[in-house]
Amino acid sequence: MTSKELRQKYLDFFASQGHAIIPSASLIPENDSSTLFISSGMQPLVPYLLGEKHPAGVRLANSQKSFRTEDIEEVGDNRHNTFFEMLGNWSLGDYFKKEQLAWVFEFLTKVLGLDPARLYVTVFRGNDTIGIPADKEAVEIWQKIYAQAGLEAKDVNFPEKHGLQGGRIFYYDEKKNWWSRSGVPAKMPEGEPGGPDSEIFYDLGADLKRHEKSIFKDQPCHVNCDCGRFIEIGNSVFMEYIRTDSGFRKLSQQNVDFGGGLERITMVVQGKDNIFETDLFINAIRKIEQLSGKNYRGSMSAFEIITDHLKAASFIMGDDQGIAPSNTGQGYIVRRLVRRAIRHGRQLGIEQESWTKEIAKIVAHDYQETYPELKRNIDRVIDQLAEEETKFNKTLDTGLRVFEKIVDRQLTTDNRISGLEAFNLYQTYGFPIEMTVELAKEKNLTVDLAEYEAELKKHQNLSRTASAGMFKGGLADASEATVKYHTAAHLLLAALRKTLGDHVIQKGSNITSERLRFDFAHHDKLTEQEKKQTEELVNQAIKQDLPVTCEEMDLNEAKSRGAHGVFEAKYGERVKVYAIGREKLHFSQEICGGPHVKNTGILGHFKIQKEESSSAGVRRIKAILE
Ligand code: SER
Repeated sequence: MTSKELRQKYLDFFASQGHAIIPSASLIPENDSSTLFISSGMQPLVPYLLGEKHPAGVRLANSQKSFRTEDIEEVGDNRHNTFFEMLGNWSLGDYFKKEQLAWVFEFLTKVLGLDPARLYVTVFRGNDTIGIPADKEAVEIWQKIYAQAGLEAKDVNFPEKHGLQGGRIFYYDEKKNWWSRSGVPAKMPEGEPGGPDSEIFYDLGADLKRHEKSIFKDQPCHVNCDCGRFIEIGNSVFMEYIRTDSGFRKLSQQNVDFGGGLERITMVVQGKDNIFETDLFINAIRKIEQLSGKNYRGSMSAFEIITDHLKAASFIMGDDQGIAPSNTGQGYIVRRLVRRAIRHGRQLGIEQESWTKEIAKIVAHDYQETYPELKRNIDRVIDQLAEEETKFNKTLDTGLRVFEKIVDRQLTTDNRISGLEAFNLYQTYGFPIEMTVELAKEKNLTVDLAEYEAELKKHQNLSRTASAGMFKGGLADASEATVKYHTAAHLLLAALRKTLGDHVIQKGSNITSERLRFDFAHHDKLTEQEKKQTEELVNQAIKQDLPVTCEEMDLNEAKSRGAHGVFEAKYGERVKVYAIGREKLHFSQEICGGPHVKNTGILGHFKIQKEESSSAGVRRIKAILE
């Protein structure tokens, strides 16, 4: 069975149980700051779990693109990946435990043909301090289900201390059997929904080869013990609680939130003990073998890290709301993924320049039917990967040499890399701090993270002070030529808004004495006609020799006059507004620090040289004055 068939069988099965199949949401969360990326199928559904009506009804199912930042460091064993697909089904106050557990068991054993004897389950042990009891109801349901499959299912407690104890149903605490977006009950903010859950594990067999962290020596094996023998393939959350200021209360409806990792289910159905050997990864693995001339079996972790990270990065960059590598927030995660993959590629001996795009192309191809957006946006992904690779490669070799020197010195002293050294590796050589920590770990060194954070802060404060004294508005200097380009940038924004519409806002600018670069929000490539009209509007404004005036006023006054600008200033603060044109007939009004020319007539002739994509939903124009 291919992964594609499996995905379809899941959707068909739940459709036959009355579920509406809904599309996967974007990986980039909307109105949800609980995680940087969508990390489970329920996230886009939170309002409906809380009681809002979903237009498609009370039974929903889908396959959702998901990404888990917290698993970045876990990749490199048989079952962890950062980007994955979650097969999900939901009851919004409709069916509950009895139906859910029976259906999911039927799907796994009857539709997919998994051996019931290899399936083990867990339930919530209960916790008096939050007043939520052990899930005996789930235990009884499971015992009936197993009995129908001809299996006795003993429930046993404290498996983490006493092992399997001949049981099939195991009680665990809230660290394992409670689910909310923010984790255990103690971490849930007020208003967050959550509940006890019941996980299903598949037994890969006691003789499984890759037990990196075999715990058989120290303690008995149990389904959650991390040795790799048991793999979690699905989780039914009984989401019926909401966090209040004093504890928990029941939601107005009993929900079910099921999630199962497509990669893992595919792995067991395809008889593999490693997700990376399924059809969801193998093409990328083979490509890395080609690129490196090395065999997957010889360096499994490196292959897995590269495959996982570039797949995840491609999906994030290739989303319709795509995020490019950068130094902050979501962009920093993308940068970490790509740079970590590049470093492992280097270790494998990949020499081809700009190779990461080869993996992106394979991922786009493998998923073209399920997630066509990646293929649609692949050119952007390729460009961004190439840019990131060039940037990082420029400094990587030198950075690694510097790192080796630090190691040589530290091995003879205190086995510790100082915060300043780590900061230098970041600042000068582009090493994400997590990469330095990883490299250090390989050499049995530690990194002083507190000191690193302090250095980073110091630097941020310094650069803030420096930028306060710099020319505003993205100007390289205050020469007359540069100032002309600055005024031209204002004319350009106004012309773009007249040509394309009011959605156009400035996203950034970079102005020198030779040209201007201007980024603005707009989704489509400009047509020849739109470019021409924009140029003409700017040139007309120049020909009319319009006056440029500056007035200081309150921010709210500026806003009410319709002045544009990045509203970074606080309410009530004084701002400067530069207006171009005659009173009441302004061609442009912008909140801006200046400087500008006095009259537009001296600008000359305005010409757009290039119009291109800058990032998702942002276009870039390069223009000159002739
Ligand atoms: N939200 C639950 C999880 O992520 C089940 O879908 O495990």
